[in-house]
Amino acid sequence: MNILAVESSCDETAVAVVSNGRRVLTDCIASQVDLHRIYGGVVPEIASRKHIEAIYALADQALEKAGITRNDIDAVAVTYAPGLIGAVLVGVNFAKAAAFAMNKPLIPVHHMRGHIAANYLAFPELEPPFLCLVVSGGHTMLVDVQDYTKMEILGGTLDDAAGECFDKVGRLLGMPYPGGAALDKAAQLGDDTKYPLPRAKAGENPYDMSFSGLKTATINLIHHAEQVGEELDVNSLCASFSAAVSDTLVPRTMQALRQTGYDKLAVAGGVAANSRIRKDILSAAERTGAKVYLPPLSLCGDNAAMIGAQAYYEFLSGNFADMSLNAYATKSILGEML
Ligand code: KG4
Ligand code: ZN
Repeated sequence: MNILAVESSCDETAVAVVSNGRRVLTDCIASQVDLHRIYGGVVPEIASRKHIEAIYALADQALEKAGITRNDIDAVAVTYAPGLIGAVLVGVNFAKAAAFAMNKPLIPVHHMRGHIAANYLAFPELEPPFLCLVVSGGHTMLVDVQDYTKMEILGGTLDDAAGECFDKVGRLLGMPYPGGAALDKAAQLGDDTKYPLPRAKAGENPYDMSFSGLKTATINLIHHAEQVGEELDVNSLCASFSAAVSDTLVPRTMQALRQTGYDKLAVAGGVAANSRIRKDILSAAERTGAKVYLPPLSLCGDNAAMIGAQAYYEFLSGNFADMSLNAYATKSILGEML
């Protein structure tokens, strides 16, 4: 079964064709990152406009690269939530039009379910149940993936997402948007013990987290150094910051792994590309004997293949939409589909 999948929730326009949820026939991405970089972050209006400009040609390109025609498409899938509302709307409207024109089913996919499903593409043997640490620019949570379309949130950030903090700190240090990858690179050259940064405890739920205190402490440290004319060891600050983020994520993940009793742990989302978090997860899990699934960097960030992967399982669960499908800026990963 070939699914034409569309993703436009942030600053990447993406169209993919995925067969039976596991095999990527093609995965085309038109990134807008360079455009937004001069503003230091995503400008929603520009994002929407650029999605409109790119999406039709990208869909044609996806079919051509897959070596198939519209007749070979069995369903159309689209990210319908969460994201920048104008941006998500472009993909939703395109997918509705495509499904209508081809007279094929329309499958709405939650963006974060898509990130989890990136693991199905990277690891053909992976099947639920498993624990997934989901870390992106907008979300940070521990998800009990009981089945492909049945999940429970064990805990998550009560304030900022981890990726958001990476980007904010990176921006203050003069790194290009999005700062996460550049900060990660600098961190690899630094001393992670040089700057003591806080690791916050958050509330009653042992799986909840907080990053706003860490973000503020790091920002204050940078501003203070500027004010007193002290030269910062940027690489070591990046290493200390990355260690603090990892120390917030990894022990909670291990505790959740013990509680669920699962022997499979996956990581998903843009921040899953972070080298410190990957290293710490691997060494912590080694002691538990659990198998760790870390998607390749190409599948950590936004793409449409992951949407096509999850869509297959939404299809099998009977989760379809009709032409009244709307886009949503926020929506729980658990929520009713529509
Ligand atoms: O999943 P994603 O592509 O988009 C959202 O759904 O939010 O995640 C983007 C986030 C950005 O905050 C970006 O800085 C971060 O992932 N990121 C990283 C790394 N690569 C991307 N953060 C830390 N280390 C990295 N290597
Ligand atoms: Zn994403």
